[in-house]
Amino acid sequence: MRRGRPVATPMLPLLLALVLPGPTVLSAPAEGTGAECGKQPLSDAVPGSRIVGGQDAVVGSWPWAVSLQLRRPGSNFAHVCGGVLVNENSVLTAGHCVTGRENLYSWRAVLGTHNLQKLSRHTVKRKIRSITVHPEFKRETFENDIALFALGYAVRYSGHIQPICLPPAELPPGLENGTECFISGWGRTSEQGDTSAVLREAQVEIIPYSTCNGSESYGGLVNRNMICAGSRFGEVDACQGDSGGPLACYHAGTDKYYLIGISSFGLGCGRPAYPGIYVRLTQYRAWITSKLLSSTAGNPVSIPLTVCLTLVGMVLV
Ligand SMILES: *[C@@H]1O[C@H](CO)[C@@H](O)[C@H](O)[C@H]1NC(C)=O
Ligand SMILES: *[C@@H]1O[C@H](CO)[C@@H](O)[C@H](O)[C@H]1NC(C)=O
Repeated sequence: MRRGRPVATPMLPLLLALVLPGPTVLSAPAEGTGAECGKQPLSDAVPGSRIVGGQDAVVGSWPWAVSLQLRRPGSNFAHVCGGVLVNENSVLTAGHCVTGRENLYSWRAVLGTHNLQKLSRHTVKRKIRSITVHPEFKRETFENDIALFALGYAVRYSGHIQPICLPPAELPPGLENGTECFISGWGRTSEQGDTSAVLREAQVEIIPYSTCNGSESYGGLVNRNMICAGSRFGEVDACQGDSGGPLACYHAGTDKYYLIGISSFGLGCGRPAYPGIYVRLTQYRAWITSKLLSSTAGNPVSIPLTVCLTLVGMVLV
């Protein structure tokens, strides 16, 4: 795999001096997409209680959903993992999706799609410019199971393509324990079943550590960099092919969706005692911010944004 390019770090103090009048910039919106995030332009209502145990998503309801696909020898691309769009050229996914598949040229990202077998005119495909896996990702324990794909070039936002919000440093109360949390993906619809051509969604609840880390469940495997979500009764879960996809929670106060987790692992799918485990996004803000910086550094338009991100990153470290 290639790391994000080491870029212009030595230049930054100079840039800061040139661009920033004073420390007021620190209060700029932390989540560096610059644009609105976490909105569903095509669905005006928050989905009610409307994957394993879920249902087909309404077209356009998860506009940050990305299908990461690998070229099969001598044939077409096939869906491997989910991903989530966080700005116009960056897609977060799970680190384990990349292991052993580090060749940039065998990947592509498909955005603005609902049915993977019937790409529509809203669908956009992108080559991958770089893949950065968290340097401390551990395959054995799934620790730090997060990676960033930089797209070959930026996508244009539309009703079908929007970024999700990254969680702010101070999580609005209740967001991480929110009731309005959803998973979505093209993964298997049962533990031994087929993957789904159509994007599916399910509402999940955040399961407290005391339950999912207990001896009846994952028995100590869950740490604070992870978050558990599912249904206490099983049945609703992410499954193979959903890895890398979002755990997105709706925050009524801002009327936006925030990326709270990335689908990482689980024992089986939809088993009551074993909810899905997600990378807990709040723990990776500094890493994500620094990588977004390096993956957009090739783009001169983004210099001021880049500087803001760096500042935020420094504050967070
Ligand atoms: C949920 O809320 C409780 C307190 O209400 C808090 O201690 C906990 O850290 C929150 N997050 C998770 C993931 O449980
Ligand atoms: C899960 O349990 C292990 C072993 O008891 C413990 O070390 C770890 O801190 C627990 N994780 C959380 C998030 O409480």
